[in-house]
Amino acid sequence: MLSMRRAFLLLAAASATTAQTYQRLGTCPTLGCVIPPDQQDFLPGQQFDIRFEVHAPVNGSEANGGIPDEAFSVTIAKDGGQTKSIAEFFGITEEPAIEKWSFSWYEDLYAKDAGEASLVHVASKIYRRVALYEPGDYTVTLKYYSTETTTATWTVRPLAEHKRAKNVILFVGDGMTTNMITAARLLGHKTVNGKYQSLLKLDEFPVLGHQMTHSIDSFMTDSANSASALYSGHKSTVNAMGVYADSSPDLFDDPKVETIVELLRRIWGSAWGAVSTAFLADATPIALTAHTRSRGTYGPLIEQALNGVNNYSWPHTGGPDVYFGGGAENFLPGSGSYKGQDYFAKFAEKGYSISLNKTALEAAPDSERALGVFCKSNLPVWIDRNVFPENLNSYTNDPSGAKKAATDLPGLKEMTLKAIDVLHKRSGNEGFFLMSEAASIDKQMHVLDYQRALGDLLELDDTIRATFKKLEELGELDHTLIVVTADHGHGFDVFGNADTKYLSEQPTDREKRSAVGIYQNSGLSQYTVEQEGVSYNTGSNFPVNWDPRYAIAAGMGASPDRRENYQINRTGSRIPNTRGYVSAFDNTDGFVVNGTLPADETQGVHSLTDVPVYARGPCQETFGGTFNSIDVFFKIATCLGLGQSTNKTLTDSACSAK
Ligand SMILES: *[C@@H]1O[C@H](CO)[C@@H](O)[C@H](O)[C@H]1NC(C)=O
Ligand SMILES: *[C@@H]1O[C@H](CO)[C@@H](O)[C@H](O)[C@H]1NC(C)=O
Ligand SMILES: *[C@@H]1O[C@H](CO)[C@@H](O)[C@H](O)[C@H]1NC(C)=O
Ligand SMILES: *[C@@H]1O[C@H](CO)[C@@H](O)[C@H](O)[C@H]1NC(C)=O
Ligand SMILES: *[C@@H]1O[C@H](CO)[C@@H](O)[C@H](O)[C@H]1NC(C)=O
Ligand SMILES: *[C@@H]1O[C@H](CO)[C@@H](O)[C@H](O)[C@H]1NC(C)=O
Ligand SMILES: [Zn+2]
Repeated sequence: MLSMRRAFLLLAAASATTAQTYQRLGTCPTLGCVIPPDQQDFLPGQQFDIRFEVHAPVNGSEANGGIPDEAFSVTIAKDGGQTKSIAEFFGITEEPAIEKWSFSWYEDLYAKDAGEASLVHVASKIYRRVALYEPGDYTVTLKYYSTETTTATWTVRPLAEHKRAKNVILFVGDGMTTNMITAARLLGHKTVNGKYQSLLKLDEFPVLGHQMTHSIDSFMTDSANSASALYSGHKSTVNAMGVYADSSPDLFDDPKVETIVELLRRIWGSAWGAVSTAFLADATPIALTAHTRSRGTYGPLIEQALNGVNNYSWPHTGGPDVYFGGGAENFLPGSGSYKGQDYFAKFAEKGYSISLNKTALEAAPDSERALGVFCKSNLPVWIDRNVFPENLNSYTNDPSGAKKAATDLPGLKEMTLKAIDVLHKRSGNEGFFLMSEAASIDKQMHVLDYQRALGDLLELDDTIRATFKKLEELGELDHTLIVVTADHGHGFDVFGNADTKYLSEQPTDREKRSAVGIYQNSGLSQYTVEQEGVSYNTGSNFPVNWDPRYAIAAGMGASPDRRENYQINRTGSRIPNTRGYVSAFDNTDGFVVNGTLPADETQGVHSLTDVPVYARGPCQETFGGTFNSIDVFFKIATCLGLGQSTNKTLTDSACSAK
């Protein structure tokens, strides 16, 4: 029995450690941690690591003497089955050694203000690279401190050993919400008396669902752990990818989960690729292969993408067949690359064609693995590439490292179409998986640059339209599952128009706000109306005027202090706020809006909204309704026949023959 004092402390601890600003370890409200924690789902045969931790707080409300129990025991039982030790159950011949470390955390904002971090000593064990093959529920039990127990129930989903789709293309509009899609439609497509004369390609999808984006241990997500949920079926902690976060100091030792491309490569030997308008080491593209708690470890993550996890035995994809995006700073030898090495050379050694501009991309052979890195950092956005191309000269982003601007740039469409050509050529009968990300919907929403965000959303839609056409030409459309979704939202919506001329000429902030036309005064979209002397030549399905006098009045649910004038910034992305102050440059003719975020926040942040999931192709019928982000993975993996009853592993030669 627990002493009364212990029982009280544990009770207090349980309430102190749930749903709060700071967490000792989000997935572990008690002093014994099973990771993966309770309520996790697995694809049959999906490989993963299991970590157990026993915490011994030295001080703070949970203080228990500070000596962690090293004699803890761990068991697992399938429903109705025998309880076995973890080692016996998984046939592990050598018990892993006990690891020990310490970490500290703040119990709340008062403790942080006072600089009083609580210290915790830890004893831990990790069982690496195991898998569960039989569908059903499993109970994992950790016993520690003689009388304490932590259990986790895990569910192995049904077997899915047969492929229903040959290819899968997953489009991710980073930060894209239904509200943004609605606004993009208004800008790119004309209405007559309340009826659209043309529609988005997205509007043609036969199936639409909704997914919930939250993290495993907080209700807001970032792009790392949401990407991980989409690619592995396992939610994680903010900044973590391909792992459940543990409390150890090592950023690469956390318990891993196998991702969709690792599974695909191991089981079917399929080709795979990633395309992004962000730098390639950014969360959404890199999470396909990344296993770390810290998304900012860019250099090591490019190394993982090419050569796999190097510290532990782990299924390895052999590297992407196609990798197109920005982020030359993580490939060029120097401080941004892993151990300062030249990753252009390392990819070339492995047989990749290397393209540093659009001309080279188009000329790259479809039969070879292809790396295309077209600039440093993120690709300049669609509006700057197509509407205000003179802005490209303001960058020093040439991917060769030369101190000049990269100007021969592909967009999402060019990269995606080329990726399909290469993947189609290289994949043979085993098909391919492609992830294509419109990254700057999110990045531009962060800086409240609504037009640039919507321009990239229209570019995504245009890319999807071109993808359908390309797949049809290749005879692959009906063999390809196309899914379009987002990883999270931003609280953006449109609520009227703004007469930007009137606004800029009013003397005070309050008078400027009279320029906003609501309800019947919102009029009709002026973005689709040709204006004398204005011609952007960006084709159908895009605005013919990005800078009309009557602009959309739009805004964010959460935002930093800023100055609003609703007009596009013609010279580059908006800078709303600098270290908590309205930027001296932000819309000097606009009115001040006091934000809702912590005062030192320079940008907007993600929002809670569910995001849409569009589907077309084999298995499309499984994507209707409302579901969890992890279900996107399970639906895709099931459609690809990745839920296996045995450890199906192609030999290395079968893999590299592809
Ligand atoms: C806990 O102990 C550590 C190490 O002695 C100390 O730095 C910290 O301030 C203590 N925290 C509290 C809340 O007392
Ligand atoms: C599956 O087989 C591979 C290759 O034989 C092996 O390296 C790996 O450890 C096995 N995985 C599991 C979970 O048994
Ligand atoms: C583990 O691998 C990462 C790169 O993937 C590397 O940065 C780290 O130093 C390695 N850790 C150990 C202990 O080797
Ligand atoms: C594009 O890349 C090719 C091959 O690397 C190079 O020869 C050419 O000069 C580049 N073009 C521009 C405009 O930078
Ligand atoms: C417009 O963009 C340029 C380039 O990023 C920046 O210097 C300027 O401050 C921006 N103006 C506003 C109003 O944000
Ligand atoms: C914004 O907040 C500051 C105080 O933080 C206040 O002085 C100022 O008047 C507010 N401005 C507006 C436009 O509400
Ligand atoms: Zn973001």
